[in-house]
This record gives sequence, structure tokens and C-alpha cells, in this order.
Amino acid sequence: MSSTRKFFVGGNFKMNGDKKMLDVIIENLNKANCANTDVVVAPPTAYLSYVRGKLDGKVSVAAQNSYKVAKGAFTGETSPDMLVDLGINWAILGHSERRHVFGESDALIGEKIKYALERGLYVIPCIGEKLDQREGGTTLQVVSEQMASIKSNVNDWSKVVIAYEPVWAIGTGKVATPEQAQEVHLQLRKWLADNVSDAVSKSTRIIYGGSVSAGNCKELAKQPDVDGFLVGGASLKPEFSDIINARS
Ligand code: PGA
Repeated sequence: MSSTRKFFVGGNFKMNGDKKMLDVIIENLNKANCANTDVVVAPPTAYLSYVRGKLDGKVSVAAQNSYKVAKGAFTGETSPDMLVDLGINWAILGHSERRHVFGESDALIGEKIKYALERGLYVIPCIGEKLDQREGGTTLQVVSEQMASIKSNVNDWSKVVIAYEPVWAIGTGKVATPEQAQEVHLQLRKWLADNVSDAVSKSTRIIYGGSVSAGNCKELAKQPDVDGFLVGGASLKPEFSDIINARS
């Protein structure tokens, strides 16, 4: 809790929202107190410019995904170059739904991270174990492997915020307990110290995602190695402002 890492809250709208709904969310965010928190929201690709155009500059905008090259015959993809052109400077990469619904591998996610960083984007790589892996006792092994693949593609850790999102907690209403979150976050910080450097371990934000709500965010935010949240469902609701201020 005494850390110097600035609290960070991301909102992942996933494939939700239309202009009317986004207008309500934007109005709420423009009124929110973001003084002590870095706030980044990720609307669907189709609405990136719409949201960026209406949202106060105190809130950053992220893409939910980006591809590993600048341009070409890759139907349906969006490049970091295009995001930069639109004034979007963050990307969420390797989200659980990209991994498990769309079959993205650690290797592909690594290439996407590398290229997004090269183009100057800030990135939020996501990691996390599935229920059978947790129950089988392999959580730390799984997240360590995911971290290793991220690490080999990162030169500048100041542009990276790691999101730990246990797959069993995403969209299920089954949030990790503060102790469960803290345990993995601490191990991830140790992993960074052992495999990157002490400085990176101390300065890199590790945020938790999976059924975060206004009701559970305060206890989670008290954990010393939980530096914020990546919020799905609740980021579409007025309670998102309370989550932004979970530590205030
Ligand atoms: P959730 O989603 O908050 O709806 O569980 C979190 C996420 O997928 O980032």
C-alpha cells in the first residue's frame, strides 16, 4: 500500500455499447475524479474515434487488440500504426477472450506486444490461469510461462501494465479473494525481480481483473501488490467511478 506505483484502472467494454450507451458512460467519466488514478477505457474498435473525440483528456483510450504488423492483407485486423494515427495510445493484448475464444497463442501475443511497443503504444498484456489449472495447482507455472513470453518481447517496462485475470473469475461474478489475488501478484512481482530487475519489479503496475465491482474493489485495492484493476462488466455502469477511486 505504501508503494509509489500510481493506481491504475482500465475499463474493458468488450463488444458492448452503441453511441447512446457510450454517451452515458462518457458523461460519467468526464465527471469522475481521476486525480489519483490512471484511467484507460477500451471501447470496441468501431467506436475508438467516437469515444476519443468526446472523452476528457484525463482519461486515456485503449484498443482491445492490435495486430503485429503495420498494414497488409489481414482482413478484420487493426494495426498499432492506425491506432497512433487516431490518437489512441494504449492497447490491451492477450486478453483471455482473445486467447480462449479466438485461439491466440503466447507466441502471437508476444509478437503483438513487441510491435505495439515499437510503434510507441502503452500495452496491457493479460495473463491468468483457467479453473482446471488452479485446481490442479499449476497457477504459478501457467502465469510464469505467460510472463516469460511477454518478457522476451518487452524492452521498455515503463510502457507495460500487467493484468492478472484468472479466467474463472472473468464475467462469472466469482471474484478472486483479496488473498488469492495478492498471492499471485506477489509471485508475479518476484518473477519480475528474478527475471527482469529489481527496479522493474518495484515500478511495474500489476492490476487484477475478473468480476471487479464497486462492492469488492476496496478490499482488493488494499492488497500491497494489487495496483489497480481491469474491469469488464462494471466499466459499463455508473459504479465504475467508485472503482476508479477504490483506494481514495
Ligand atoms: P469482468 O471482465 O469484470 O466482466 O469479469 C474483466 C475482463 O475481462 O477484463
